[in-house]
Amino acid sequence: MKIKGLREVAVDQLTELDAHAELSALAKEIAEHDKRYYQHDDPTIDDAAYDALRARNTAIEEKFPHLKRKDSPTDKVGTPVQSGFSKITHAVPMLSLGNAFAEEDVQDFLDRIRRFLGLDAGEELAIVAEPKIDGLSISLRYENGKFVQAATRGDGRVGEDVTRNILTLKELPKELPAGVPDVVEIRGEVYMAKDEFLALNQRQTDAGAKVFANPRNAAAGSLRQLDSNITANRPLRVFAYAWGELSAPLADTQMGVIDTFKSWGLPVNPYTKVCRSLEEIMALYNQINTDRAQLNYDIDGVVYKVDRLDLQQRLGFVSRSPRWAIAHKFAAEQAQTIVENIDIQVGRTGKLTPVARLTPITVGGVVVSNATLHNEDEIKRKDVRIGDTVVIQRAGDVIPQVVEVVKDQRPADSIPYDFPHTCPDCGSHAVREEGEVDIRCTGGLICPAQAVERLKHFVSRNAFDMDGLGAKNIEKFWQEGLVKTPADIFRLSQHTDTIATWEGWKEKSIANLKKSIEDRRTIALDRFIYALGIRQIGQANARTLAKNYLTFEAWYDAMIAAKDIEGTAYEDLINIDGIGTSMAQDLIDFFDEPHNREVMADLRAQLDIEAFDVPDTTDSPVAGKIVVFTGTLVTMSRAEAKAKAESLGAKVSGSVSKKTDYVVAGESAGSKLKKAEELGVAVLTEEGWHELVGR
Ligand code: IVH
Repeated sequence: MKIKGLREVAVDQLTELDAHAELSALAKEIAEHDKRYYQHDDPTIDDAAYDALRARNTAIEEKFPHLKRKDSPTDKVGTPVQSGFSKITHAVPMLSLGNAFAEEDVQDFLDRIRRFLGLDAGEELAIVAEPKIDGLSISLRYENGKFVQAATRGDGRVGEDVTRNILTLKELPKELPAGVPDVVEIRGEVYMAKDEFLALNQRQTDAGAKVFANPRNAAAGSLRQLDSNITANRPLRVFAYAWGELSAPLADTQMGVIDTFKSWGLPVNPYTKVCRSLEEIMALYNQINTDRAQLNYDIDGVVYKVDRLDLQQRLGFVSRSPRWAIAHKFAAEQAQTIVENIDIQVGRTGKLTPVARLTPITVGGVVVSNATLHNEDEIKRKDVRIGDTVVIQRAGDVIPQVVEVVKDQRPADSIPYDFPHTCPDCGSHAVREEGEVDIRCTGGLICPAQAVERLKHFVSRNAFDMDGLGAKNIEKFWQEGLVKTPADIFRLSQHTDTIATWEGWKEKSIANLKKSIEDRRTIALDRFIYALGIRQIGQANARTLAKNYLTFEAWYDAMIAAKDIEGTAYEDLINIDGIGTSMAQDLIDFFDEPHNREVMADLRAQLDIEAFDVPDTTDSPVAGKIVVFTGTLVTMSRAEAKAKAESLGAKVSGSVSKKTDYVVAGESAGSKLKKAEELGVAVLTEEGWHELVGR
């Protein structure tokens, strides 16, 4: 049967052989359309026809999941081809923002800041509020007043060089007034105005080209065009709202910097305003929310930032977001659809996560076909059943959630969902330990799903970050037996002859793969620890461990030694601020498993694991010292004290031992002070601490 004819056949009627042939044809056809669209900006079919191809492909994959191809179009959701731009390492990383969804979250944010800074209720805390623009963040570099470079955010550390495309932005000054600092990096959001987006789509329609789903997609597609002549015809705009590297400060306050930008001729958002109370903040939030529909650009919330830059400096960052700013999101968009099935996914720690497979529906401009159901209790609480109509919502980049079941639309014959008690992948028992919400597969090292998930985690963005080796490739390499443990990844170049015989692998993609592997033979210790995927050891805890043990060898030896819970290695481990006994147990268990030790030894031979990069604290009197804060501190909060000590290279511990160098005792210090005195550890007052480290 010819493929064209096949398309007429309902998916239910397809034989396995037909389905196989059609999936292959669809993959080729869709890839061809993508190429025309993204690389040549010259699509030959309209949006609806293109969507129909994708929908057909998805429907067949859902009916025949085992036939899903490794180059399936489902896994490439229309992102432009990311080649051709060179990489730029940001001098100052581009961070993200924490979220607030309700007024209480904003109140908590303000309280947190007050606590951290030790501000009394009566003291003013000025906050700059401004719309959160739904575009793409950009860093614009000026040297000696001249625009020299533009970079996308990328992963926050390394972005792409889009200078040529940004040059086409009419409203961006290419030169700043005389007297500006030598180096100025202005950060902001690139977006497309709504009317210009509609006009662009009209032009696309007239030309028979594909239209964009929303202004953000249009802006992203335009900014990532390899041909800047095309970008020039795409009306991009920018709002400046932050900065990166500066050779001299621009002002003392956030608002002062924004005013400076404005005086230089940069577009800044007209809603930007200093608020002096929660009431003023909420009033502006409500006003912006009301005006939202009339604005000529998409926004998805309001951002609040501490106005005084000295306070921003003191507040600093928690992992990837500043303590001094937060994004207050608008309420999520909701829609109703049907739960067609409930699947169980097995995570790298064996956790079984139920996922609702939904009749695809558009929510907030994105097609949603899956939503997480979290765990057994959550399914029970909401009483979600197969066949139910549910309300789902999407807030920003968050995974879609099932909000509630529309009970009056429930089919008469529906039955409550029964959570499985065996792993769908390896068949091992799945158990729920007392006091836990999660049900876990007990298959451990024999469960293939867990092994594959661990490998995916290993190469993921915050771990080894291997562009050329995504989740799909990991599955393929696993199935073909080329990669069973992380170290096998570093031996893949021995198998390039085999890989070259697989469909879709060309010389170029193999070269990319090799390069992304070679680039990662040197790895920072905190990334390495995180990549191992030890329970409870996320990015922040991996960093804490790296900071405390500094080298892989020191960490490894200490974790092995910590097994003796009477010994000092164990005591040191649980004394690290942020690592408690439960985390210590997970670390010990991990190191106790011979297979894990083999994996680490094998990796060690392949890699150069860099020692943790301690902040430059050559002049710091407390670098490398172990400090304990106890009692009530009056000149600084506990969090600020800890952050300051760490920024000076000290390690902050939660309990006093003979290794402690200083105990800083605030008011009514108790047992820790006593222990310090017994052990002869130096005790400082708060004032003494400030004298030691300088304010
Ligand atoms: S400030 C260190 N202000 O939101 C904080 N970000 O969720 C830097 N964004 O990556 C960001 N409007 O792309 C800031 N008025 C605004 C913003 C804004 C949009 C984006 C930005 C950032 C993301 C974080």
